[in-house]
Amino acid sequence: IIQEDSKKASLFVANEIAGLIQEKQKEGKKAVLGLATGSTPTKVYDYLVQFHKEGRLSFKNVITFNLDEYYPMQPNSLHSYVRFMNEHLFNHVDIGAENVHIPDGSLSPEEIRDYCLDYEKKIENVGGIDIQILGIGRTGHIGFNEPGSSLNSKTRLIRLDRVTRLDAASDFFGQENVPMRAITMGVGTILSAKKIILMAWGEGKADVIQQSVEGQIKESIPATFLQHHNNCDFVLDDASSSKL
Ligand code: GLP
Repeated sequence: IIQEDSKKASLFVANEIAGLIQEKQKEGKKAVLGLATGSTPTKVYDYLVQFHKEGRLSFKNVITFNLDEYYPMQPNSLHSYVRFMNEHLFNHVDIGAENVHIPDGSLSPEEIRDYCLDYEKKIENVGGIDIQILGIGRTGHIGFNEPGSSLNSKTRLIRLDRVTRLDAASDFFGQENVPMRAITMGVGTILSAKKIILMAWGEGKADVIQQSVEGQIKESIPATFLQHHNNCDFVLDDASSSKL
């Protein structure tokens, strides 16, 4: 789905998410969202907050699972995805704190394995993710599933790629401050969502989008695994779709 610019594309995605939340609400059910961080989804969150402020959308029946978090990372750190999500979405809507799930970057190394298994269980126990939104890294990563991640990978601790750490350097005031690792949902976790929406804006993503959509499915570009999913949209602006 190609829109002229990221604003129009973000409104399109926000409308899809709001539509799902309202539909589930009518049925008396909960909507389960898989959420992403990075600069790409911020306008979608702005629109969702706007809909809420206009009285059109409630998050009382919404459960969320975030894709990933740096490791180690304290939740109150300037760089944490917990802080990111609070600032961009959760602080501005009526979601219950008990319904928000973000991988915990403050665990000890011994606690991580069980924690990741439990994260998977929690997703399963609420019936799976209805809509998973994704950005994409220049390495072709989704969540923090770097090149080499396998099709069936689950939530786990991973080592970040050099390119990803380079791209995050300005957020951390220098590459040396970017954590070496992260906790991420796996490719398999992402693919088990009922619907997936990957968003990408700008010329810088054009190459990786071309490879992800038209290229051979391979571990070296994890986003190509999305070709296996039967309900996955790429929502793009003119620039990111320019090499298709
Ligand atoms: C980080 C996130 C990814 C995101 C990627 C792209 O690595 N963990 O989920 O897709 O950045 O970032 P941006 O949206 O800022 O281009």
